[in-house]
This record gives sequence, structure tokens and C-alpha cells, in this order.
Amino acid sequence: MPKGIVGAGPAGLLLARLLYLEGIDSVVIETQSRAHIEQRVRAGVLEQGTVNLLNDAGVGERMRRQGLVHEGIELRFNGAGHRIDFRELTGRAITVYAQHEVIKDLVHARLADGGPLLFEVEDVAIEGFEGDAPRIRFRHGGEACEIACDYIAGCDGFHGICRPSVPVGALRFYDKTFPFGWLGILAEAKPASDELIYVNHDRGFALLSMRSPGISRLYLQCRPDESLAEWPNDRIWAELQRRFEMGGFRLNEGPIFQKGVTPMRAFVTEPMQYGGLFLAGDAAHIVPPTGAKGLNLAAADVRVLAHALSCRYRTGSHERLRRYSEICLRRVWRVQHFSWWMTSILHRFEYGSEFDHRRQLAELDQVTSSRAAAEMLAENYTGLPFDLPGEEP
Ligand code: APR
Ligand code: PHB
Repeated sequence: MPKGIVGAGPAGLLLARLLYLEGIDSVVIETQSRAHIEQRVRAGVLEQGTVNLLNDAGVGERMRRQGLVHEGIELRFNGAGHRIDFRELTGRAITVYAQHEVIKDLVHARLADGGPLLFEVEDVAIEGFEGDAPRIRFRHGGEACEIACDYIAGCDGFHGICRPSVPVGALRFYDKTFPFGWLGILAEAKPASDELIYVNHDRGFALLSMRSPGISRLYLQCRPDESLAEWPNDRIWAELQRRFEMGGFRLNEGPIFQKGVTPMRAFVTEPMQYGGLFLAGDAAHIVPPTGAKGLNLAAADVRVLAHALSCRYRTGSHERLRRYSEICLRRVWRVQHFSWWMTSILHRFEYGSEFDHRRQLAELDQVTSSRAAAEMLAENYTGLPFDLPGEEP
């Protein structure tokens, strides 16, 4: 029987590919169209381990050609920039390559593998996963469909149906909302720096990232319910220029072709499994975007799940599947801590006092002057190794 995979985000598509390579069949269903998922704007930083995983899965060819390898980041505060040298501190680097490009590569591979990958499905429901007859029901092309599968992977993101299908009380949720969001833009403008710049400014956080040598990705801290109507392009550029101000530094400006507000939240489901249902990626957890861990965490989950399923079929042992959640949650909480910490040192908190701001600056001073502190940041940013105890094959 196939594995049923609900959702064709990075988690669902990468899981399907990893299972295919192990000779395990799966069916992937997705509510959106192919065009929609291949254009959806998300973050764009891949940890070294994620890059290796995509390469090993045979979907890294375009990423190797187009991805931008970054060996450090800049932290900017008090009007001065400080570089954190990842290569020197950890021997590792990150790759800047947009999530929707990863999606395109995975969709391409999935279709070349012969699918099935069904888009624009409707009325998805999962049943029977508490016992031994899991089923997925949905409508596709106007027809009612039902797939019997031995396991279901809930890879349908934070707003999906898998997590809410688990009986009330069987899962515990931990969540935190932050009193701010990020206003993000994509602009046709040469990035003003070769590396990402994270800014702690009196007026709030700002971030310079990029998608290619000609496209800048810029963010600024805003209210969580900020209305884009209040942000004409010239106001966005003026605010960004103020927050990045340092000596003669200027952001390059250019036509803005995408704008959006991302709320900031953190969320964890425990456990990440129930009977024959396994939750992975955003369906199980959300991290605030500071540090760009969302996709990387989704990739780490499905690596564990693919391995556990492969053990189950190769050896007949359910042990790895039984421990799926326990294995994943260790990394999930480590990454939650890191994303929360990056968020906490860089943002202006609504109820924060001048005392808190001074304390943040002292922490940034430590991170940029103590090797031990810089190493902690670099190790987490470039990604915890995939061989955390319990995770190794
Ligand atoms: N049935 C099928 N598919 C669904 C359903 C449903 N009922 N509900 C949602 N989906 C689809 C969504 O349209 C989306 O394509 O599930 C997919 C989930 O993908 P993501 O939200 O990208 O989540 P995930 O694969 O876990 O990837 C995590 O994505 O949200 C970002 O920042 C996050 O980078 C992280 C990464
Ligand atoms: C991005 O490029 O979109 C990005 C980069 C770094 C982050 C978050 C988002 O921390």
C-alpha cells in the first residue's frame, strides 16, 4: 500500500522523493495549483545539512548552479557592522536559494519519478489512522477519490487539516505570538551587500537578504496587523534606509514587485504522531522567521520519517517510527530556542524599556566580540548536524 502524503510543500515533496529513492510508493495530494506552489514567496536560506540532503536526493543541480554560497552574516547595531564568519567558526556555510526554487526542483523530480502528485484537490479528509486502515478522501477533477494507505504523512502546513483531525486532547500545543511582524519586499535592485545584514535599530529590526545578484529581499519590523495600504514604496525605502544607516552605506533602490506582512509566531505540537499519522514541517511546528529555519526544520523532519519508514520495510521493525516524534522534537526545541533568541536580540519589543534595549546591545556586543558566543550563533545558523544523538541511522 502507498504512503499518503498530504501537502506538496517542501516537507511533502522532499519526503516523496526520499521514499522514492528507498523504493517506497507514495501519493502526494495538494489543494493549490502547481503554478501557485511554484511561485509562493517564502524564505531562502538553506543550511549546509539541507543542501547536502537535497544534493544526496538528486535534486540539487540547479541549486548548485544558482544558489549563492554565503560564508557569514553581518550584525549591525549602534551604527556599526560586525561580521560573523561562519566558515572560520564552524567550517560550514549557508546557501541562499529561494524556497519556491526548491519546490520547482522537487516537483520536477516528482513528475519525472512518475508521480502521483495531484494538484487542486478539494475537501480533503483523513480517517482510520488511529487503527490499521488509514484512508485519505478528497475530490479531484470533480470526482470523489479515496486512497487506502498504511501510513499518512501530514505535511499540509500550519493551516492544514491533518493536525486538527487528531482527537481533541491527544496532542499538546505550545505556542507564542510575538507583538510584531515583518513587512517584506522583493525589489529589482542589486543587493547592497554580498552577505545578509541583520539590524538592531532604535526604530526596529531590519534585514537585507537577496534572491539573486539583481534581486534584493528586504524586511522591516512592523505591527503584526500592519496594513500595506499605509506603506507606499517611498515610505518603505525611507524607513529601510534609516534602519540600515551606517557611514556612507546606502541600500540600492529599485522597482518593488512583491510586498507582504508576515506575522511572527512560534508553535510546537507534541507528540508529532498519532497512530498511523505522522506530522512533519509546519503542520507540526512554526518558528519565527529570524534565522530562516522553517524549511530546514521541515527537511530534518522528513529525513527522520523517510529513514524510519525505510527501516520499517527493510527490517520489519517499528522502533524508529515509534520514536519519530521524540527524535524530531529534540531538534525542534533547539531550533525554537535559537529562532526565539535571534528574534529577542534584534527586535524592538513594544513593552520593552530602554533597559531592555541596552541589555540587547550588550548581548550583541558579546556575540560579536567573544569567540565562544559567535560560535554558538554560527553553529546554530549554519545548522545543527544531522547526527544529533538518536538521529543517526
Ligand atoms: N490538503 C492538501 N494539501 C494541503 C491542505 C490539504 N487539506 N492544506 C494545505 N495544503 C498544502 C498547502 O497548500 C501547502 O502547499 O500543504 C502545503 C504545506 O506546505 P508549507 O506550508 O510550505 O509547509 P511545509 O512543507 O511544512 O514547509 C515548511 O514552508 O511555511 C514555510 O516557512 C515555512 O519554510 C517553511 C516551510
Ligand atoms: C529571506 O531571504 O527571505 C530570509 C533570510 C533570512 C531570514 C529570514 C528570511 O532570517
